[in-house]
Amino acid sequence: MRRPLIAGNWKMHRTPSEGAALATTLRQRIGMRSDVEILLCPAFVALQAVAEAIRGSEMKLGAQNVFWRDSGAFTGQVSPPMLVAVGCEYVILGHSETRGRFGVDDSELDASLLSYFSETEATLNRKLRAVLPHGLKPILCVGETLAERDAGQTEQVIRTQLEGALHGLASDELYELVIAYEPVWAIGTGRVCDAPEANRVCGFIRQTLRELYDDELAEFVRILYGGSVKASNAHALLHQPEIDGALVGGASLNAEEFERISYCAPRR
Ligand code: PGA
Repeated sequence: MRRPLIAGNWKMHRTPSEGAALATTLRQRIGMRSDVEILLCPAFVALQAVAEAIRGSEMKLGAQNVFWRDSGAFTGQVSPPMLVAVGCEYVILGHSETRGRFGVDDSELDASLLSYFSETEATLNRKLRAVLPHGLKPILCVGETLAERDAGQTEQVIRTQLEGALHGLASDELYELVIAYEPVWAIGTGRVCDAPEANRVCGFIRQTLRELYDDELAEFVRILYGGSVKASNAHALLHQPEIDGALVGGASLNAEEFERISYCAPRR
């Protein structure tokens, strides 16, 4: 059985002391749950403080990004061993914001600059190859834009993202992989993908894993939904058979809301 994973992506919110306070509150409320896995992904600078706040609990720590080399002259980057040293078990990869789409709506930013922010399928592939040997569990985000959905390209876009990121990786390397289906149009917009449709796309992702690899891996890998998850819609989403958890952005910054979301997960 796939244990539900409820992950909070704090994005660029919470300083170390604010993060420690939020983590301490969550620890008191849901820190010892074992029926679901609870994961906090603060900004790099808050990882240490949050690690200390959750030490000894069942909660897990994750980062929001990583570079693919272990060390070197890469100003501003953070490596897989650095994340492990600070207590990370997970790392989010390929979020639509780090794929570069967060520049798209910024009218002050010239389109030619977007490539500086962008993760591509090729860089994601490097990151996956870099983190797996360190035992870091990747949460690989995939999802289509509204224009891609409207053009009927959802499946094609997701298949390309999966094939590109997983290129050359073998089935037995991928048992700790988590995939998050995050339709770009549902992130931070309040516009949630309805539960049956989210389930259908997560099922498509599992089927793609079956085709690229095998049944065993496809049945093992957890597939999350992310995009405007709240306590009010989490129950319907988390009770879909293909959805094994949630990647929660805005709502994960509120302890009560995040706790309520975690209790929407079925006990499998
Ligand atoms: P949201 O973000 O819940 O604020 O829509 C989800 C995410 O970006 O992971």
